[in-house]
Amino acid sequence: MAKPVSIEVWNPNGKYRVISTKPMPGTRWINLLIEQDCRVEICTEKKTILSVEDIISLIGNKCDGVIGQLTEDWGETLFAALSRAGGKAFSNMAVGYNNVDVNAANKYGVAVGNTPGVLTETTAELAASLSLAAARRIVEADEFMRAGLYDGWLPHLFVGNLLKGQTVGVIGAGRIGSAYARMMVEGFKMNLIYYDLYQSTRLEKFVTAYGEFLKSNGEQPVYWKRASSMDEVLREADVISLHPVLDKTTYHLINKESLATMKKEAILVNCSRGPVIDEVALVEHLKQNPMFRVGLDVFEDEPFMKPGLAEMKNAVIVPHIASASKWTREGMATLAALNVLGKIKGYPIWGDSNRVEPFLNESVPPPAACPSIVNAKALGLPVSKL
Ligand code: GLV
Repeated sequence: MAKPVSIEVWNPNGKYRVISTKPMPGTRWINLLIEQDCRVEICTEKKTILSVEDIISLIGNKCDGVIGQLTEDWGETLFAALSRAGGKAFSNMAVGYNNVDVNAANKYGVAVGNTPGVLTETTAELAASLSLAAARRIVEADEFMRAGLYDGWLPHLFVGNLLKGQTVGVIGAGRIGSAYARMMVEGFKMNLIYYDLYQSTRLEKFVTAYGEFLKSNGEQPVYWKRASSMDEVLREADVISLHPVLDKTTYHLINKESLATMKKEAILVNCSRGPVIDEVALVEHLKQNPMFRVGLDVFEDEPFMKPGLAEMKNAVIVPHIASASKWTREGMATLAALNVLGKIKGYPIWGDSNRVEPFLNESVPPPAACPSIVNAKALGLPVSKL
């Protein structure tokens, strides 16, 4: 029998019992649930990652829906427990849902929500921050200052890479990859090479128009190229940012061989999922190539790092904070709550899960729809006409 976990309760007499496995930013998400007759229970256990047993104990005998986190293992066991408790709704507070076994959810008729649309710019900005931090060796230089080692300007002190006129490579030019590409092209006048199974016409048009604008101002234009293979990007780009989803085909997409394909002074950035990179191979590559630099937000075995990574001066490492802007995190909490609420209330599914502004506008009530349910089709859920 699992130990009971500590909770905070809002609106104790609410008809529907909704659980959040973590306190989430903002209060709008709580108010939206309370207004619709939900009793909200927030797990306050001082433990970063809840175990399956902890979550089973939170679900208890009657639970209408759960808002969970990407660190939790939502598989057969949890969906069976939720279904036994009468629950039909789960939402990750994340856009990625590689921690969720959607087939198991389908088996128990549980809708699985996620939170796209609200993370795009925030995540792209972190990828851009890591690119700059790596290119200009910001973290190393900061450590140097704090250690009191600065005793005067020197021609060779922390020399890094100039981005202007170089090539940015994007692997996976979906929403976040495209937003990152635009930032790097427009902000730093970099050329673009991208690899994606789908053509990103909007991105191509953007770079073409920006290139023409620069030319008309007498400046060096920028260019784009859609690569026919990932290797082409690895070979040609000076800064490469990874934006694929994690699945069987992208596991260790970056490995010993692909690292060897990259330029010796390239910069590699990963704000997608850790297992996309073979981290052991990366550590070895960083050791062998001191001018190669990496910016990582995600790790293969989070929360751990492979041995040696933390000691590498040519690695900038941050703890999975790509979506961590106040606006985005509050918006994610709202969307996750509305996914669960919408399913409980029998609302249809929003037609375009990337067009989330109507749900985030605090001055009007949100639409009567679930913002984003990834297994809506499999469960035969109706789509909103709004
Ligand atoms: C964060 O990593 C997310 O998938 O939302």
